[in-house]
Amino acid sequence: MNLYERIPNNVNLSEDKKLQRALEKWLPNFLDWWHDMGPEGFQNKDVWLRTAVDVGSEGWAHFDYVKMPEYRWGIFLEPPQPDAKIGFGDNYGRPAYQEVPGEFRNSLRRIIVTQGDTEPASVEQQRQLGKTCPSLYDLRNLFQVNVEEGRHLWAMVYLLHRYFGRDGRDEADALLERRSGNPDKPRILEAFNQPCDDWLNFFCFTMFTDRDGKYQLSALAESGFEPLARTCQFMLTEEAHHMFVGDTGLNRVVKRTAQLMKQGDVRELGGVPLDIIQKHINFWFSYSLDLFGGEISSNSADFFAAGLKGRYKEQEQYQDHIVAEQNFTMKVVDEGQVKDREVPMRNALNEVLRTEYVRDCEKGLARWNKSLADEGISERLFLPSSRFHRHVGEYAGRHFDIEGNLITAEEFEGRKAEWLPTIEDREYVRSLMHAVTEPGKIANWIAPPATGLKGKPFEFEYVRL
Ligand SMILES: [Fe+2]
Ligand SMILES: [Fe+2]
Repeated sequence: MNLYERIPNNVNLSEDKKLQRALEKWLPNFLDWWHDMGPEGFQNKDVWLRTAVDVGSEGWAHFDYVKMPEYRWGIFLEPPQPDAKIGFGDNYGRPAYQEVPGEFRNSLRRIIVTQGDTEPASVEQQRQLGKTCPSLYDLRNLFQVNVEEGRHLWAMVYLLHRYFGRDGRDEADALLERRSGNPDKPRILEAFNQPCDDWLNFFCFTMFTDRDGKYQLSALAESGFEPLARTCQFMLTEEAHHMFVGDTGLNRVVKRTAQLMKQGDVRELGGVPLDIIQKHINFWFSYSLDLFGGEISSNSADFFAAGLKGRYKEQEQYQDHIVAEQNFTMKVVDEGQVKDREVPMRNALNEVLRTEYVRDCEKGLARWNKSLADEGISERLFLPSSRFHRHVGEYAGRHFDIEGNLITAEEFEGRKAEWLPTIEDREYVRSLMHAVTEPGKIANWIAPPATGLKGKPFEFEYVRL
């Protein structure tokens, strides 16, 4: 582990001078981007952050006060497995690819660029949030997520520079040029162009959108292109905390809302009404489902056949890693009706991964509903149908109600305000957002966390302002 080089790494960067120079040229551009598009304000404050100092299960995370621009962004891959094999697809059992196979070059570059683009995008989406943090604990968590997304960008940029030559370098530059929500040069995926400018959106984003990341990275963590697999394996360890922030953050909002519901009118008491929470769940869940791609997809079949992108826990969960003969039954719209259709399994792998994701999201809903029950509230939160409010795939361009029944565009327009956050809802939520920065204090609309972080109490000074 070379921690004290300009670019900390465990890939022996100093032995590849050309690559080292190229990345050292990219470094100041990254810092410029961080300066322009990273968290606004707070850049010279001490934040109690964890920094990756080792990829081993022991001690990969070191906690200390760091100013964000001095965070040690680096390139860390899990150690290589001797005799790594391709774990699925047409080349199942052959030696894993250590270099990019020519015939898959475009597919692989596209996979890496698409993943890479989401990392800086989320930092851009979240850059104003520090100013309205509900507590120092939350402020620190926001910045932790932000610096790690920056490191994930480094991970993808390393792959582009190391394995894709000239066009890889161009793609790495472009990752710093696109901007979330900018109509002229938007980020690649739509969820990453949506505004995320209040903390309810932030918790939904880290719950639902970062969780898409978990499933994409898991599918790539068993890739036959070994450098990508090793990169994603390590990213997943960091990603778990982002989802923790979203899941527990929403749970705390729900808990506080439930407490206020018992006292009287939640709005008058300055909380977030349950129906507004539900609408935000509907919004971010549906946009995050789009990130898995079309229900029926030739790309998913090609990526699987090539051994590039597998299923969730491919080795652990499945016996048949070739999947040449199986079929999958899914709901499609046919002659104005939702009907079952059987498609070859390899073409349905986006949907298979999405189904795993939905199951995982349901666990979060169960936790939040338990909080409602514990407070003696009978209302429940739920996930909308996977067909609701989709912009990609089989259900895009049609309209469904929250239960997944086909409806007309007029009906959807008429009921949209019941299901998705309205401008008034967004303004109301924003009106609650005021920075609370005294150690141990918390905003009125959210409950404090059950415990602090890494043995520190909630009252700890997580950011020195
Ligand atoms: Fe990430
Ligand atoms: Fe993340």
